[in-house]
Amino acid sequence: MVDSHSTPLRGTITIPGDKSISHRSIIFGAISSGTTTVSHFLKSADCLSTMQVFRDLGVNIQEDDDQVQIKGLGLTGLQEPTVDLDMGNSGTSTRLISGLLAGQPFASRMVGDASLSKRPMGRVIDPLTEMGATFDSDDRHLPMTVHGGHLQGMRYRLPVASAQVKSAVILAALQAEGPTVIEEPSPSRDHTERMLQTFSPQSISRTAHEITITPGQPFAGQAIIVPGDISSAAFWLVAGAIVPGSEITIKNVGINPTRTGILNVLDRMGAQVTQTNHQDQVEPSADLTVTFSDLQPFEVGAEEIPGLVDEVPLLALLAARANGISKITGAEELRFKESDRLQVVTQEFKKLGIQIEELPDGLVIDGRQPWHLEDANLDSHDDHRIAMTLKIASLLVDKPVNIKNFEAVNISYPTFMTDLEHLRK
Ligand code: S3P
Repeated sequence: MVDSHSTPLRGTITIPGDKSISHRSIIFGAISSGTTTVSHFLKSADCLSTMQVFRDLGVNIQEDDDQVQIKGLGLTGLQEPTVDLDMGNSGTSTRLISGLLAGQPFASRMVGDASLSKRPMGRVIDPLTEMGATFDSDDRHLPMTVHGGHLQGMRYRLPVASAQVKSAVILAALQAEGPTVIEEPSPSRDHTERMLQTFSPQSISRTAHEITITPGQPFAGQAIIVPGDISSAAFWLVAGAIVPGSEITIKNVGINPTRTGILNVLDRMGAQVTQTNHQDQVEPSADLTVTFSDLQPFEVGAEEIPGLVDEVPLLALLAARANGISKITGAEELRFKESDRLQVVTQEFKKLGIQIEELPDGLVIDGRQPWHLEDANLDSHDDHRIAMTLKIASLLVDKPVNIKNFEAVNISYPTFMTDLEHLRK
């Protein structure tokens, strides 16, 4: 591999809207009264799954480019679906919507693709069952039928820091009898809490460690502006830091502090990332500029994982360009994502000749060794974030590589290649 041959990435891009916030904007729009408008909605396969599910629950949703208009039916207006609810590849849709359906007076059958059907649903089945819903499932996997029940509020301590599980319990708690108090082992992304605060301020109160949900409060439709997804921006932050000669500005990126772990690690590594044009509406955002930098190795442990859970494959790539040995631990949750990301990153990085070792809960990477392409047939394992990580890695390889099922990028970032071409011009 010859670094000096890689084309620098230079220019300014606006990336698509945040996936987590886009899902939630449809959910909260649907259960509010009046109309919700969403700007810069992420029209990727995952968010379109959520949109179709709400149409199947009787909600009128209009689309015009990346603007979406939702005519809310309120918490009691959703209709019993006449078809299976197809969650596609989306764990976020499945887990959040399970929480909502747990309190509805009907049964809903949820199905998903092969990858989603392997992902664990026990983590939502357990608390929602405790609240009063019942589930039929294939050994706690999809296909799964949620029989909505009369729910009771409860005190719940999450066994893992998971925003999806937390959000499922919040959406169920809004329909329960009596308040629910949720405790997190460490803070996960708080988009649901922020959005609930906007649509129905009386429904939620928060302290540093606890969220209290009070049911029976009014919900009013809102105008939501979705910031750029920091988990999509992260591909360019990393590409800009590792491809020699690069300088990239990414406009209007969400910088919610529960999501900015990647910025903290880049900072510790000595990467130059600057923030300008700060805005603060429901979610804070800024323009981010990254320039190619010499990178120091890093360590990331369990307490930091929730803030960068989707960026671990990219951290591994950063580590493979750092001047030393980096270590990621406490990341066993990565095994339950769209693929087993610890195993898959190890397997695919070895094809690039990267010195990487898989741990039960993490990765060790020695960035000092030069890469030697051993196998040009890379595989996304149908995982969007693996596909994009491998594409960025391949920018540093001086021979052509194939990435099997690269189309997986459509799950979260359909315009990824357009943005890459723009930055390579
Ligand atoms: C998400 C939460 C995270 C993250 C996923 C999106 C969300 O999952 O990995 O991409 O929108 O709530 P977990 O809650 O399973 O950690």
